Amino acid sequence: MLEIPAPKLMHSPAPTFWRRLAPLAALLLSLVGAAGAANTMDRIDLPQARFSTGDNMAWREPDFDDSGWKLLNTTQAYEGQGYEGYDGYSWYRIHVVIPSALKLSTDWPERLRVYLSAIDDADETYLNGVRIGATGRMPSDPLGYETRWDSPRDYAVDLRSGLVRWDRDNVIAVRVYDGGGGGGFYKDMPYLAMPHRVDGLQLDAGQARYHFLADGRVQARLDLRNNYPVLQRGVLQTEVFDLVSGRVLESGKRSITIAAEKSLDLQWIWPARPGIQVRYRFVDARSGRIATATHDLPYRLTPPDAPTPALHGAQLLGMRPGTPLHYRIAATGRLPLHFSAQGLPEGLKLNPLSGVISGTTPAAGSYKVQLQVRNALGSTKRVWTLVAGEQLALTPPMGWNSWNAYGLNVTDELVRKAAQFLIDKGLAAKGWNSVNIDDGWEAPERRADGEMMGNARFPDMKALGDFLHERGLHFGIYSSPGATTCGGYLGSLGHEFQDAASYARWGVDYLKYDLCSYAANMSKTPTLDEHRKPYQLMGEAISRQPRSMVYSLCQYGEQQVWTWGASVGGVAWRMTGDIADNWNSVLETGFSQAPHTRFVAPGRWNDPDMLVVGQLGWGDKLRPSRLTPDEQYSHISLWSLLAAPLLLGNDLPNLDEFTLSLLTNHEVIAINQDALGKAAQRVLNQDDWQVWVKELEGGAKAVGIFNMGSSFRSTRIESNRMGLENRFQLRDAWRQKDLGLQSKHISVNLPAHGVMLFVVK
Ligand code: GAL
Repeated sequence: MLEIPAPKLMHSPAPTFWRRLAPLAALLLSLVGAAGAANTMDRIDLPQARFSTGDNMAWREPDFDDSGWKLLNTTQAYEGQGYEGYDGYSWYRIHVVIPSALKLSTDWPERLRVYLSAIDDADETYLNGVRIGATGRMPSDPLGYETRWDSPRDYAVDLRSGLVRWDRDNVIAVRVYDGGGGGGFYKDMPYLAMPHRVDGLQLDAGQARYHFLADGRVQARLDLRNNYPVLQRGVLQTEVFDLVSGRVLESGKRSITIAAEKSLDLQWIWPARPGIQVRYRFVDARSGRIATATHDLPYRLTPPDAPTPALHGAQLLGMRPGTPLHYRIAATGRLPLHFSAQGLPEGLKLNPLSGVISGTTPAAGSYKVQLQVRNALGSTKRVWTLVAGEQLALTPPMGWNSWNAYGLNVTDELVRKAAQFLIDKGLAAKGWNSVNIDDGWEAPERRADGEMMGNARFPDMKALGDFLHERGLHFGIYSSPGATTCGGYLGSLGHEFQDAASYARWGVDYLKYDLCSYAANMSKTPTLDEHRKPYQLMGEAISRQPRSMVYSLCQYGEQQVWTWGASVGGVAWRMTGDIADNWNSVLETGFSQAPHTRFVAPGRWNDPDMLVVGQLGWGDKLRPSRLTPDEQYSHISLWSLLAAPLLLGNDLPNLDEFTLSLLTNHEVIAINQDALGKAAQRVLNQDDWQVWVKELEGGAKAVGIFNMGSSFRSTRIESNRMGLENRFQLRDAWRQKDLGLQSKHISVNLPAHGVMLFVVK
């Protein structure tokens, strides 16, 4: 029986325990003992393990003699600890004495938590010879190999099983399969612990869903799940805190009971504006133990689209003469829209209902086309220039890529759905027009004649290309110059020209070429020539195809790729390792770009990696981005200022209202797609403030002011520090609002990791 009394609102000043909480963590779930005490008996770290390559099921047994095995650290891949280049099976054996005193550390001594961090790529884990968990799939699995290199391994042992040998040696044996790259344990410290009952409560505020109401407030729904086979009972307090005024706006308290392995749907209505934070606190009725979580509430800045017609997106398209062209005009306005074009070169036609231009690119030259869109409320026109020549990607590529959502579990159906959602949700109408399959589409083997094919999840690559082109979308694909890709699929090594020809037949418009296993074909400290070679080869192979194929280099910024990427035919190049959805990663991939932005020009884009907003999962369970709303505004603003490729990586069928508004602001996108093709310079980096200024076509400037600090603060930036005149017109790009004539400075008041993005004239 669930007992849910209505929430009681209390209007009281913040009690001290709230003030003591870390003020700005987006999602901070911490558990505090009733007495606040943590002792060393809470957790046993597992820093080392015995290791052997090979595979033998006898190695799971506790009594197996592994004394001859090498001792490795469990926070670093085995490659790098003496097993360079080894892929395949291996075993780890961790010996650990588990003290019975550990049971005293919990109010619920029924589970032993075996946390193994992440393992590259798949594992089966045994405790004293008995299997306690598995993640990913070994190649011998009837369903085939599946990497889950980045999934947390958080296994639980039911203590009633008698498996644990208290106060004696226990052996955790981990069978690992590595399909490529690092290999084995590589991430955080593995450990053993005994959970408390309250740990079963998934007080994960990041999972809340939000619906914006017409009155400017937001409705929050939180599915509070009890993961344990015991009843949870206690009091849940919520406090809504305004970081701008430092005041508690409201607080509520309700008694809750959640049956074993059930959940409770909680709902609230809260203010939706910058700086609103909700703090949750659950007190377990029996033990007094506390679980807390803090969450910054989302707020929308992008105004709704006008019902009158409007044209958006890039004003330039670069295509090679004589190659097939499919292009969807980006436009909004109340449906139905009707499109027309004046000056469309011969060989191209426009579908007046869908706004899709298709046909064959004309001979070299610059063609100015007057696009028009009308509906019942009016019409609008804009000049769009088709530049037929050798330079592609005259503005940064924009679209969607499968990796950050589906990882290696991508399918044809998911890709088609994503494409349809780009259109149906109004993203294509703002310029998001490429659909790129990342790793995981490749067949396990080539045909006898060496031809590459899609795997069982991609039965017909050409049909998929046609599906996208009919909708005026571009078709992107992924491969590696090595024998295998990063995900362990087949790469293009030795088949470059054959693969390029296949891509052309399928209608591919975009290739991401990812170094991965090619590292094995280079020396230990590869020279610039060694780095260039595989990219030059594929660059040549795709340039010989009768298509316009955008070539995107992915070798993580090695050998200053921004200085030579264009010389091998590239138009974009990754600058760093992979992005993740946390602020540190945004600092490392995006804010680190300051020294390199002067290399950016039309068709020469520095790529700080794909966007991490919306529902993400990398092939695991989908979940919302862990960036706070303000961090997401900063992420999109910075990528726009950097003129970075804008590739969404989220699950589009699950697009929430906040993310949609974040991605459909045409004034922000216009900064990214500006025809001048310059990236912003960082003009100020001081006292945790950063200012980035991007020159725009026609003399205007985009200015981003970022609060890099961890509290709500204000500042005033003098106009001369930003290279602005004394008097200037200011427009707030996110709110699409003129702020009028300003003199001498810009003042901002910003949340932690928040941004103001302006257009200055
Ligand atoms: C990584 C790359 C990612 C993704 C992945 C696929 O090397 O940086 O963006 O493509 O490989 O396996």
